[in-house]
Amino acid sequence: MPSLNDIRSTFLGYFEKNGHRVVESSPLVPRNDPTLMFTNSGMVQFKNLFTGVETRDYNRATTAQKCVRAGGKHNDLDNVGYTARHHTFFEMLGNFSFGDYFKTEAIPFAWELLTRDFDIPRDRLLVTVYHTDDEAAEIWKKVAGLSDDRIIRIPTSDNFWQMGPTGPCGPCTEIFFDHGDKIWGGPPGSAEEDGDRFIEIWNLVFMQNEQFEDGSMRALDMQSIDTGMGLERIGALLQGKHDNYDTDLMRSLIEASAHATSADPDGPHKVHHRVIADHLRSTSFLIADGVMPSNEGRGYVLRRIMRRAMRHTHMLGAQDPVMHKLVPALVRQMGTAYPELTRAQAMIEETLRSEETRFRQTLDRGLRLLEDELSGLPDGSDLPGEAAFKLYDTYGFPLDLTQDALREKGRGVDTAGFDAAMAEQKRMARAAWSGSGEAADATIWFELAEKHGATEFLGYDTEEAEGQVLALVVDGADAGEAGAGTKVSIVVNQSPFYAESGGQVGDTGSIRTETGLARVTDTKKVAGVFIHIAEVTEGQIQRGQGAQLAVDHARRGAIRANHSATHLLHEALRHALGDHVAQRGSLNAPDRLRFDFSHNHAVTAEELSAIEAEVNGYIRQNSTVETRIMTPDDARALGAQALFGEKYGDEVRVVSMGRQDGSGKGADKATYSLELCGGTHVGRTGEIGAFAILGDSASSAGVRRIEALTGQAALDHLREADRKLGEIAGILKAQSSEVVNRVRALADERKALANEVAQLKRQLAMGGGGASEAQEIGGLKFIGRQVEGVGGKELGALVDEMKAQLGSGVVLVLAEDGGKATVAAGVTPDLTGRISAVALVQTATAALGGKGGGGRPDRAQGGAPSLEAAETAFNDARKMIEESA
Ligand code: ALA
Repeated sequence: MPSLNDIRSTFLGYFEKNGHRVVESSPLVPRNDPTLMFTNSGMVQFKNLFTGVETRDYNRATTAQKCVRAGGKHNDLDNVGYTARHHTFFEMLGNFSFGDYFKTEAIPFAWELLTRDFDIPRDRLLVTVYHTDDEAAEIWKKVAGLSDDRIIRIPTSDNFWQMGPTGPCGPCTEIFFDHGDKIWGGPPGSAEEDGDRFIEIWNLVFMQNEQFEDGSMRALDMQSIDTGMGLERIGALLQGKHDNYDTDLMRSLIEASAHATSADPDGPHKVHHRVIADHLRSTSFLIADGVMPSNEGRGYVLRRIMRRAMRHTHMLGAQDPVMHKLVPALVRQMGTAYPELTRAQAMIEETLRSEETRFRQTLDRGLRLLEDELSGLPDGSDLPGEAAFKLYDTYGFPLDLTQDALREKGRGVDTAGFDAAMAEQKRMARAAWSGSGEAADATIWFELAEKHGATEFLGYDTEEAEGQVLALVVDGADAGEAGAGTKVSIVVNQSPFYAESGGQVGDTGSIRTETGLARVTDTKKVAGVFIHIAEVTEGQIQRGQGAQLAVDHARRGAIRANHSATHLLHEALRHALGDHVAQRGSLNAPDRLRFDFSHNHAVTAEELSAIEAEVNGYIRQNSTVETRIMTPDDARALGAQALFGEKYGDEVRVVSMGRQDGSGKGADKATYSLELCGGTHVGRTGEIGAFAILGDSASSAGVRRIEALTGQAALDHLREADRKLGEIAGILKAQSSEVVNRVRALADERKALANEVAQLKRQLAMGGGGASEAQEIGGLKFIGRQVEGVGGKELGALVDEMKAQLGSGVVLVLAEDGGKATVAAGVTPDLTGRISAVALVQTATAALGGKGGGGRPDRAQGGAPSLEAAETAFNDARKMIEESA
């Protein structure tokens, strides 16, 4: 009996042999369709190939595509668990031709695979065709030899396939399997078609039209093929089962659930195990593709599925979280075909465990409230909307969980009442905003938030995606369109652009629609609405258009590296300086990073190099960077760094990076850095490349700032430093390794030379032979001398020396050095009673046009504007000595 894994391989192998490229499943979050919540069929990733907008290097492809139908148009959530063939997650096997082969090849391919490779008896198969499609009917007759009564013409949309309200479409032919008359039901198109006897197994779509929003349809230039076969259905058939949940893969998940809850896999618990098995697949695959539980958009659909499963684990009597324990069984079954599941295993387990732990805290109380409400109601009546809203708002019960719980009791919910209660809550929240004093110019963003909801951020997983233009704000007002040259803020429903927050700068890039192109220069957010600040550079952008959003890839890569390096730096600082180090601010820009932290001293050069080396060690470790969602309390319990005084919501992203032995953070005590962070990061630490600290400086009292570089910028910086060192070595004519000693020797030499020069200048100033040049004035010996190149500092020593040579007498020196004039006088101690050096300096200074001077009676000094009147100064001095003699 072939396993589901065998069947998938056989399918892909068959088409590969027939010239098809085996293409990987695209992610569950469609990157190329803003109107789709989740990828819900194989053709989604090829949408633009059918219309000719895009071409690739192949024109035949085959895929096993993961699909989720749990929101939007195709929503199977309500039925899962209660029927044989409903799933929120399933795999669609498909083969595709893009303008290559058409009906005449597509039908024989399908027939040969089913009847030869899968060995399905021919007489159990029948088909439907679109009522006007004679060509398809003819081919079936010829290829499969089917009689007319087994080629059923269907006139309704059942046999005209459309991906959505717009897009490629065409008539289709569906292949059915007849389970035999032991099972009730009639062929398609008959009154009993809803029975279980005839089961559709494969849909072949002849893509030949494109549907537009205005209702018109055009014929496509090329004719293509899109087929879809549910793996679970064909699996059940080939394994001789009637129920998809009895296939090997689903059964092993059901048994894992039975084992984890010690509850019989069959019998009365059957429904619970089926819900758990199905929801385990959809939640795990969604988390692996980057969807995280939240209260909005895709994240909320994920949360609804998770909580629905968790109510069922609770009904099986489990006291502790169960879902995360089932992940290994799923990875064993599907991890080979979908490696992303294996890669994300730890994150999936952590997310499920955390969500189930939290939800269990309110689940019991919520269920009791539900019982109380029901007991007060007449038999069979619906639960009032207000009660359902209270369960939603206070106990975290999504509406469909309440509906699921009531379904077993044959009751429903007054959904209109629920919607009214929800609308009332929103109205009150809006009223609270207008009173919150937000800047008046922000009003438009709050209005847009109210109208369209928060922008869904796709940028953790992709840097390119399609979005739909919801609003164009020009000069503060909502505009219908914006033409070339206009500065405009663009709002879309989903975006890969990161909006500035948490120190990380906003992304730049481009937004292109059918009619125009805008250059995005920054991205910000207000009230959850992402504002793409842009200028239209070509054509025009219109509200309502689909748009291709592309982030500047290189710039974002550099920002990611800097942001991740900041986390490593934070931890390295704590190691080097102590646990008092806490983040006070940061900047993660493409060209550099900046980190402010509490610390009272300058960081020493040794500390800086230890920190830099530690960060580089973790970069070389090249360990994976992981992100998980949990409550702030759980995160702190794991040792996560949180910003002091920061307000966090009821769930946070926790980013961990670096592995270390035993003494680290996290449940395994082996995580190096663990931080609450909403930013974007590298996948592995090695992508940071290199880390170089530029320096440490004071930011404000008690706060230091480190600036650093990563990647090529860090290497460029080091190279530049090395180049300068080489240049210095060249000037010194020395090896780089000798530069420090040589510069030190030069500095010493310079100091010695400076001393020598000072001494020589003094000697020079003494010149002419000391006492011999002395004059006699009224019996007192006097030397008056003018010198050059001697500064104020050296004058004292010169005057003392001259005094010593005279033995008894008076000295006056007028000196000039570097444009500065100084006057110094000295009187030997025996004469200070008759004449004061201070008075002499003041007289000379006055003669030179200056003022002041001071010191002691035996030695004084003062400054003068110049020595131009030197002669007058000497004469005045002589006169003064004469008078005192
Ligand atoms: N796209 C087609 C389907 O989903 C094959 O049924």
